[in-house]
Order: sequence, then structure tokens, then C-alpha cells
Amino acid sequence: MALPNFVTVLVVRLRMIRDGLAAFFYQVPVAIFTAKGSGLKAKAKAAGRDPLFQRRVLRFFRAFLPNLLLRYKFGSAYPNNGTALVTRHDDVIEVLDRNADFEVVYEPRMRAITGGENFFLGMQDTALYARDVSNMRLAMRRDDVAATVEPLARRLAQKLVAEKAGRIDVPPELSLPVPTAIVTDYFGVTGAPDNKFMDWATLMFEYLFTDIRAEPVLDSDALNAAADCRSVIDAAIAKRKASGETKDDVLGRCLVMQAAGLPGMDDLGIRNNLIGLVIGAIPTISKAAVQALDQLLDRPAALASAEQAARDGNDALFAAHVFEALRFNPLNPLIFRRAARDTKIAAGSFRARRIPKDTMVLALNLSAMFDPLKIEAPESFRTDRPWGDYMLWGYGLHGCFGAYINRAVLPAILKPLVIRPGLRRAAGEAGQIDMGRTPFPKHFVVEWA
Ligand code: HEM
Repeated sequence: MALPNFVTVLVVRLRMIRDGLAAFFYQVPVAIFTAKGSGLKAKAKAAGRDPLFQRRVLRFFRAFLPNLLLRYKFGSAYPNNGTALVTRHDDVIEVLDRNADFEVVYEPRMRAITGGENFFLGMQDTALYARDVSNMRLAMRRDDVAATVEPLARRLAQKLVAEKAGRIDVPPELSLPVPTAIVTDYFGVTGAPDNKFMDWATLMFEYLFTDIRAEPVLDSDALNAAADCRSVIDAAIAKRKASGETKDDVLGRCLVMQAAGLPGMDDLGIRNNLIGLVIGAIPTISKAAVQALDQLLDRPAALASAEQAARDGNDALFAAHVFEALRFNPLNPLIFRRAARDTKIAAGSFRARRIPKDTMVLALNLSAMFDPLKIEAPESFRTDRPWGDYMLWGYGLHGCFGAYINRAVLPAILKPLVIRPGLRRAAGEAGQIDMGRTPFPKHFVVEWA
């Protein structure tokens, strides 16, 4: 066994070197040169938005600079004194596992959103974190996914697609309304004026996770959205209590816990938890659904096989197509953490790297999912991968609270579309994802038959 293993490892490593060199000397420069825009900076920016380009750049880093430390500060939204890029699968996992050394940074902005308190994604591994997550796991139970959430998403997605005559603009007409309905009908947070939850949640998400440069206009829009969202949640709590209604939804269960005197479940605690969950749920599911669909449309054979799985009623196989498609362009290509002390990544290996305190460490989950040292044939579209190969919504302590919702809802949103015969992009720009100067899809038109 030892000799074949040695040969396989050698071949994989030689291929990594070949692919890294091809990316650096050929694919990346060609992509920049042929990108839209005038001037190198504009072209590089345009090329950088393409997930294929990102994956090629990462091939080079994985092969030659797997843990790169830069003096360059990672924006001003969260204090830091430099940036580290972590690209190998093992090292990404290491960063996300070592919570005491690599801390979450979101606390100040979480407090700005809630109007005072922290939300558990902004907390370190503390007793308060355990209390809030435990409370919300009692309110939002895993068996709700099959009993309530998936049927809700499936029925609504089927209806929204069935109402259309062969053409749909996916974000406003499908992928945003479905998670919004989850917030209103399952979380029990009602009362927002038309479509406002989608806009508010998207702005708050940008403020927390993508507004790295702390843009003043976005910041004030996001904080206004947060204030409006807080008022609506307060009103929903007050209305439910005043009505005496005992509905078995997330809000209803929070109020049962409040009545039982559980710590952290006063009205303010419930509001803080619900606002975090609203932010987590709406723009994420929409963007992930759009990007998975976009990747499927780029691969006619995979699209045909997904369509066949949907027709055969093979939901597990259909879902495997969706998650594999999302692997090629996940919602977030990276997760950031800040070094809480001087430390080291990959200690004891040739790629060991010292990380000074306060460095922003970018754990590149996109790169981890394409690391040939861990993932078999990473560039192939395969529907038989073990679930552990995927890092689509975080990893470790702060791994996505909605993970089981995502696994059910993303396929439920996409199935009624993919099953339509002749599904294709609309002609021209309409058939490409339009982010409208935001990090989230605003328009993406597809047609069928
Ligand atoms: C496809 C859709 C989604 C994606 C891609 C996604 C992505 C992520 C990622 C990457 C993280 C980790 C952040 C970090 O470690 O810094 C995370 C955490 C989280 N997500 Fe999601 N998410 C999705 C849907 C949802 C939904 C539906 C909810 C609510 C039901 C939700 C609520 C949360 C919460 C509360 C956390 C923090 C967990 C903790 O701190 O323990 N997400 N998500």
C-alpha cells in the first residue's frame, strides 16, 4: 500500500505545482487582460468577481503561498493590523477550530444592529454564547425542518414558479420571497411593510459581513434598517403577548420559555436573537440559490442530470446537484477571524506561519473545497461527494445555525425551476446575475420551454 500511496501523493503534489504555475503565468493574466473595463485596476476588479478566476488565483496560493501574511490591513470596519490568507483545507479547519486563538470580530457591529446587546455570532466561546444558542435551538428545532420549513418553502416556490409564463426574475420573484415567508410564517415575525424584511436584512448583512471599508452611506442606511427592524420585532412580540395567542412557531416558543423564566428570554433577549436570525436567513438563502442555479446553467450535463433527478423524484440526488453547484461559487468564499494572540498556523509543517496578534485571518473555505490534497478530483462536478467535503456555510463553533434549513430549502426553491423543460438564461445581460452594486443578486432572469 505504501508505494501506491506515495506515488498518488507525489502525482497530486506535482499537479498542484503545474496548476499553480499555469494559473499564475497564463490563466490569471489572460483573464485580467480580456476582462471588461478600462485600465488594469478596473479589469482586475471585473475579473475578480468571476468565481472561476477566484478559484484559479487560489490554485497558485495553495501551491506556493498556502499561508500568506501581509501588512495590508483588512479594511477598517473591524480593527486589525494586517491580513493573513489561509488556503489549504487543513489550515482553514484549524483556524475555525481554534476559537480561543482566532476570535470572531463582529461584536461592535452586532451591538450597533441590536441597539446595545451582542448576538451569539458576535460572541466568543462563553457561557452567554452557550445560553443563547441553546435557547434558540429549543425555539428552532431540527425536526421543524421536515415538518414545517421544507413544506412551506416547497409549496411557495412551486406556486411562485407556476404563476409565471416561462420567465422569472429569480431574486425578487422567487429566492427572496421564500426565506421572507420563513421569517414571517415560521419565525412568527410579522408586521413589516411590503418587502421591507428583504431590504433591511440585506443591508444589515452587508454592514456586518461585507462592508469591510466601513462606507458611511451604507452604514447609516444599515443602522436605519436595523432600527426599523427592531421596531417591527418589538411590535410583533407585544402584539402576540397582548393577543394571548399561543402559536407554536419560533416566537411562540420563545414566549413559552420567557413564561418559564429562562434566562436570556426577556423581550429584549428575544428581539436580539430574532434580529440575528432574520439577518442570517434572508439574503443568504437567496444568494446561495441564485449562485447554485447560475453554476448549473453553466454546465448543461449537470443541469440535465439535475432535471432528471427532479423528474424521478430523487430528492437526495437533486439536492446533491445543488450543493455541488454551490461549491463552485459559495455565498462566502472566506470567513474572517482575528488572531487573539501571537500564534502559529500549521505548526510543525513546512508551511507553518507565525501570525501576530490582531491579524485578520481569512480562512478561505472556497479554496479548502478545491484543495486536491483533501478533495478528490476537486475540479470535477460530482454528485457523490461525502458531505464532509463541503464548507458551504461555515465550520466549527460558529457554523451556520440554519444549516439544516439550508439543506432543505435551497433544493426546494430550485426544484420547480430546474424541472421546467428547456430552462435557460434569458438573452443578454438579463440572463447574467446582476448585483446592482451590492454583494447580493438583484436580478437574474431565466426562461423555459
Ligand atoms: C444558504 C444559506 C446560508 C449560508 C450560505 C449561511 C452562511 C453562514 C456562515 C458562513 C456562517 C459562519 C459565520 C462565521 O463563522 O463567521 C453562518 C453562521 C450563522 N448563520 Fe448562516 N447561512 C445561511 C443561512 C442561514 C439561515 C437560514 C439562518 C437562520 C435560520 C442562519 C443563521 C446563522 C446564525 C445565527 C449563524 C451564527 C452561528 C453561531 O455563531 O453559532 N443562516 N452562516
